[in-house]
Amino acid sequence: MKAVIDILDLSTEEIMELIATAQDIIADPDKYAHACDRKKLATLFFEPSTRTRMSFEAAMYELGGHVISMSSAASSSAAKGESVADTAKTISCYADIIAMRHPKEGAALVAATNASIPVINAGDGGHCHPTQTMADLLTIYREKGRFDNLTIGVCGDLKFGRTVHSLVGAMSRYPGNKFILISPEELKLPSYVKQEHLKAKHIPYEQTTDLEKALPKLDILYMTRVQRERFFNEEDYLRLKDSYILTKDKMKHAPENMIVMHPLPRVNEISVAVDDDPRAAYFKQVLNGKYMRMALILKMLGIRVDKA
Ligand code: NCD
Repeated sequence: MKAVIDILDLSTEEIMELIATAQDIIADPDKYAHACDRKKLATLFFEPSTRTRMSFEAAMYELGGHVISMSSAASSSAAKGESVADTAKTISCYADIIAMRHPKEGAALVAATNASIPVINAGDGGHCHPTQTMADLLTIYREKGRFDNLTIGVCGDLKFGRTVHSLVGAMSRYPGNKFILISPEELKLPSYVKQEHLKAKHIPYEQTTDLEKALPKLDILYMTRVQRERFFNEEDYLRLKDSYILTKDKMKHAPENMIVMHPLPRVNEISVAVDDDPRAAYFKQVLNGKYMRMALILKMLGIRVDKA
């Protein structure tokens, strides 16, 4: 497989195959410990990251492979003006697979077009973040046991939040799902995302500014951070940053079996007191992300390990 730029680059059958691999890894990690012997993953991160980068790196190490990376965008030749296309051609000489994050929408596609090795989009600007969605999908599967007939509330910065765009795309492919889009007026889901996914797949959705009213109806609440780095001015960010704060008190209005998700990092949107609630699933997402990235690396390198 040459590239995963958008979550829709993977069919629903391929998603299920990755979930099966991730679950097999969870059951028997030792069986995978040498699956990527002598293979190299290059992580190219032109934007800050903790989880995505480290989980790619941990994933490759747990598969027995190696990782090479730039220490920062500022210390790479990008700072001298090198294009993404040239960087991708160069890294193709050193590594077997690339995971790349970049502030510009479409950068991962440019890298994939120019690289001679597989490229995984680890986030391109305010566009997509398919591997976060893979972490989200394994979490939904393990916590809810299904991908269909779910009411999903996505809350916060739906305009710039790339994890939301990818999740909406992924979950619009299953029957019976509904979305409640909870955001301030200025941070509504972009119309291209509604058009491409919700409208194209006839997925019912509501738009609201009211989190408390939506809570009782939800199977999943997906909270997001207001994406400061994508704002044009700091004043707007400061005005909008604390639009939603999920507290223990608000959780009283949520169903018993609802789960709370968040791609992290969290700033203020979920009070730390909610972490002890059994419905809080955001740190499970972090772990699930590593397993799904392991499964994806294996698939993209064409490495098969027999399942139990
Ligand atoms: C997200 C991202 O980078 O888009 N983080 C992540 O990868 N888990 C979410 C965010 O930064 O708000």
